[in-house]
Amino acid sequence: MELKVTPSFEQSGIAVAEMFAKVIRQKPDALLGCATGSSVVGVYRHLAKLHREEGLDFSRVRTVNLDEYAGLNAEHSQSFAYFMEEHFFSQVNLKRENIYLVNGDSPDLQAEVERFNRFLAENPIDILMVGIGTNGHIGFNEPENVFSAKARLVQLEDATIQANARFFENESQVPRRAITMGTQGIVSAGTVVLIASGQSKADAIGQLLQNPNADPMLPCSIMRLCRDAHVVIDEELHRAAQPGKAG
Ligand code: F6R
Repeated sequence: MELKVTPSFEQSGIAVAEMFAKVIRQKPDALLGCATGSSVVGVYRHLAKLHREEGLDFSRVRTVNLDEYAGLNAEHSQSFAYFMEEHFFSQVNLKRENIYLVNGDSPDLQAEVERFNRFLAENPIDILMVGIGTNGHIGFNEPENVFSAKARLVQLEDATIQANARFFENESQVPRRAITMGTQGIVSAGTVVLIASGQSKADAIGQLLQNPNADPMLPCSIMRLCRDAHVVIDEELHRAAQPGKAG
């Protein structure tokens, strides 16, 4: 697992976007694994800039997202589908048929999970970006006694609901369930890049950097089992994540 420490959060976003751009240039039909949330906004902003200013071509690029809230449709302003449309899909020349999104509003969520697992089994991800929850979650794989390999419907932890309440009018509006890619989809990706910033992530990042083992109680530690894993954080978070500083 390789650590990159950048001078600022903005620089982290640029660094991750440049890694994605390199893959796209080498493999124009690459499958990108996409995350949502505040950590990745800068990555999409820079990819859109590379498209506008340098002609980075997404016409054959394919995408798949890590997760989606259960019960929100694509028109809901806090659905991950909406986020992707706003920050990425509408900003580049991706083709609709090359975008795979979980339908969190499906009347049959179990069938939706199975569709997602079939897609992941048939389509290896070339490069995947992930954020990290304050509790160390990756995708919506919350701390558990064992790693769950398959995509599935999960119950969100209180810590996640509280952390994500900032995007909703109040905490009661945060969906309690989500469909997430499991750890198999994550470790199967050619490259995995974790981007994080902010004091609230210091504890989880500190644990990830200090412990060489994968521990399902710290889901992001699955990074330790990925064949080409990168952690991109800014200096401020790196300092806060030093032993004795976090918590
Ligand atoms: C979102 C996702 C989540 C977020 C994580 C961090 O697709 O999979 O794991 O990456 O909750 O969210 P932010 O970046 O908003 O702090």
